[in-house]
Amino acid sequence: MSQDIFYPNRELFKDSPIPNMESYKRLVEEFEKDYEGTWAKFAKEKIDWFKPFDTILDESNAPFYKWFSGGELNVAHQCVDRHLATKKNKAAIIFEGDNGDQRILTYRELAYEVNKTANMFKNEFGVKKGDRVVIYMPMIPESAVVMLACAKIGAIHSVVFGGFSADALRDRIIDATAKLVVTADGAFRKGKPYMLKPVVDKALESGCDSVEKVCVIERNGEDINWIAGRDYSYNELIKYQSSKCKAEPMEAEEPLFLLYTSGSTGKPKGVQHSQAGYILWAQMTMEWVFDIKDNDTYWCTADIGWITGHTYIVYGPLASGATTVMFEGVPTFPDAGRCWKMVEEYQINQFYTAPTAIRLLHKMGEDEPSKYDLSSLRVLGTVGEPIDPPAWKWYYEAVGGSRCSIVDTYWQTETGGHMISPIPSATPIKPACATFPLPGIIAEVIEQDGTPTPIGEKGFMCFTKPWPSMIRTIWNDPERFKKSYFGDCKKDGKSVYFSGDGAMVDEDGYITITGRTDDVINVSGHRIGTAEIEASIKKHPNVASVAVVGKPHDIKGEGIFAYIVLKQVPISKADEVADDLETMKEINQIIKSDIGAIALCDGMAFVPDLPKTRSGKIMRRILRSIIKGEKITQDISTLEDPTIVSTIENIVNQ
Ligand code: WTA
Repeated sequence: MSQDIFYPNRELFKDSPIPNMESYKRLVEEFEKDYEGTWAKFAKEKIDWFKPFDTILDESNAPFYKWFSGGELNVAHQCVDRHLATKKNKAAIIFEGDNGDQRILTYRELAYEVNKTANMFKNEFGVKKGDRVVIYMPMIPESAVVMLACAKIGAIHSVVFGGFSADALRDRIIDATAKLVVTADGAFRKGKPYMLKPVVDKALESGCDSVEKVCVIERNGEDINWIAGRDYSYNELIKYQSSKCKAEPMEAEEPLFLLYTSGSTGKPKGVQHSQAGYILWAQMTMEWVFDIKDNDTYWCTADIGWITGHTYIVYGPLASGATTVMFEGVPTFPDAGRCWKMVEEYQINQFYTAPTAIRLLHKMGEDEPSKYDLSSLRVLGTVGEPIDPPAWKWYYEAVGGSRCSIVDTYWQTETGGHMISPIPSATPIKPACATFPLPGIIAEVIEQDGTPTPIGEKGFMCFTKPWPSMIRTIWNDPERFKKSYFGDCKKDGKSVYFSGDGAMVDEDGYITITGRTDDVINVSGHRIGTAEIEASIKKHPNVASVAVVGKPHDIKGEGIFAYIVLKQVPISKADEVADDLETMKEINQIIKSDIGAIALCDGMAFVPDLPKTRSGKIMRRILRSIIKGEKITQDISTLEDPTIVSTIENIVNQ
């Protein structure tokens, strides 16, 4: 194999839980010999149970698997209260605002805030166990406090990313039938205030009958509307709450949270996670993949609106008793050195970000890292999309000083935590490769019938045994859950979890993820369903039909490209239609209000027709090839009109 292999730097990894490949292999074997017993061993060791579980894995109603049934725990207790005996004065959350303001919450202070907030939710807003609370918040410590307060009283939170539009927020509130919405007036980005509360006001204008109260946290102090009897000030109410709150005992399988994510068809799916299985894996992966130690300061740049923010800013780090950094701003403000300045200042030991940010920081400030002391770093992580070798190399050399291990962590909203990833203290790393499944995770690259895909060829990335932190169901839609994840691939006649991603195994057994195989685009590491964008574009009165595909993009990884057939092309304008910028603007405006700015098209082409089979199926593969500038290799003779392919090529390439 000609490819370089990078070995862990022994100096950096002392007393690691998985210190080398031998111990990795031993652990994998332990799981092979006694899968359930090994999981039970970790569950007993890691979780502070209120009541022990009596069943390890219940497969009787597959694929609705249950883990640790009969056990009772509380995730806020696991993440906060249980640490008070030994770490009460340790920093739990270090917050840095957009403008550089700082706040540190110790575990004691975090417990105090969580308890007061939990009491507020119970006593002022009547939130009970099992009620849904939608959280539409910026990156401030209160977001973590609010999530943990829900966990403390057994309410199910659903965090909606602050970049989603009012319509997208409304859909999620309605689907979850939320009782309470928690938001902020707004926050700061790139030195300027931006607003969130007005978006909530707009979302609640129609259809959100379940919402009784809105709780507003002050961050930027800008003027906002107050609706008497509905809107309440968090900052005011918090003053009157008791700082003592009993942790609600939760059954292992009761839902902890919902998080909406895009699928290949229809509306977003409310991915439902459990209490025990989820928190167990969040904590174990924090220890294995980030090698988190008591004196470490760990920083993940994700937003709490995504699963990475849930598992690796809030739940994983706090369950491990770590110090987690939360950052309100963006990595390029005031300049491309912001992250490196923060690494130096807080002496960050683990830095976790997305390839899109790495590409951007590389492009904007190739030498920027050399201006700062980054010697505290041990582990660099990436997540969200395949990382390309040039970005990997720069991350390794310029940021990691060729000393740190890079963990390319492959996982999904649905998996709850990391699935395939190097272990920084053990795994010999091949650049831009997720390497091996973590111990306990049974990952196989197979064909749909379960036969292993030959080495070096693309197959389906499947997980063939249930694992504790897996998705439990899609909220309100168990049939869709079965169809979406257990409908495509079988092994030994049994349906197995298919991720929607393609992957390849090399001759050394290393797994490389090759990207989505379905109609989901990965823009800057965010999943966006083409069907959702198409539905939005079709709302424009002059759009007859549309097909959306991913287009390679230097920074974002993938951008969004729409092929659009207009209903009416004015005769006089026939030549100019390709440049009908007005319509393009209108279409993007619709997308922005329907979904949010993250789903805006990077490009559009107005075409006379789409390549369709005689039965009317749009051949997206051809459209993907055209935008990538690839030669069309598929058979186009079965198309209703084969000439349309060259017509579209001409339009796109002109
Ligand atoms: C992609 C984010 C390659 C993949 C945690 C997956 C990756 C989707 C990687 C999940 C990686 C995530 N290498 N691709 N290391 N990590 N992906 O649900 O397509 O927002 O299915 O979860 O991102 O995105 P999600």
